[in-house]
Amino acid sequence: MTQVQPKSKNIVWHHGKLTPEAREAKLGQKGAVVWFTGLSASGKSTVAREVELALVENGINAYVLDGDNIRHGLNSNVGFSPEDRKENIRRIGEVAKLFCEGNVVTLTAFISPYKADRDLARKLVPAGQFFEIFCDAGLEVCEQRDPKGLYKKARAGEIPEFTGISAPYEAPDQAEMVLKTGQESLEESTRLVLALLAERGIISFE
Ligand code: ADX
Repeated sequence: MTQVQPKSKNIVWHHGKLTPEAREAKLGQKGAVVWFTGLSASGKSTVAREVELALVENGINAYVLDGDNIRHGLNSNVGFSPEDRKENIRRIGEVAKLFCEGNVVTLTAFISPYKADRDLARKLVPAGQFFEIFCDAGLEVCEQRDPKGLYKKARAGEIPEFTGISAPYEAPDQAEMVLKTGQESLEESTRLVLALLAERGIISFE
């Protein structure tokens, strides 16, 4: 796991009384980070919300960290330059790591266009508890959906550095799962993610 060098001096790590194993045994649930990545309108939030619902309905604490929402609060001071996106994802990676340590099945829905940034988020979480899920809908489909009218604006030059149009998206090459969200149904995508989590020992139902 990666540790950055803090700016502050004279700070000392404080350990709690619970080991990860004891916490898991008491709570009866294992943490995970399910990292959805893909273009805007590729279905990240929609699938993440559906998985969240299925998990919570089965008594598993799950929570979605969503790009648009987090940019209203914690990340309200970052924009869409490469540096800002990096900082956006760095913070979310750290938040997701904390949620995961608290045994929450944490579902993140951010474009997260840069491979290096996603890899950093992966390194924060113990092996076997990070799942990168590529929502591979294709630019054409996303642009056709355009639920927020942003692709139209980006094409008209009204939004600079728009992912897929005037800013890059680096597709994953080591994703735990690729969802064909342009073709498969929401039910099918949801089922596939739940099956993956069950197969990897995070949950015990599908
Ligand atoms: S990321 O690139 O830093 O991971 P994030 O997921 O937080 O992006 O936010 C993406 C959302 O912000 C999009 O779904 C869209 O609604 C909105 N958005 C506004 N401007 C842009 C832009 N220039 N590029 C991509 N998305 C944008």
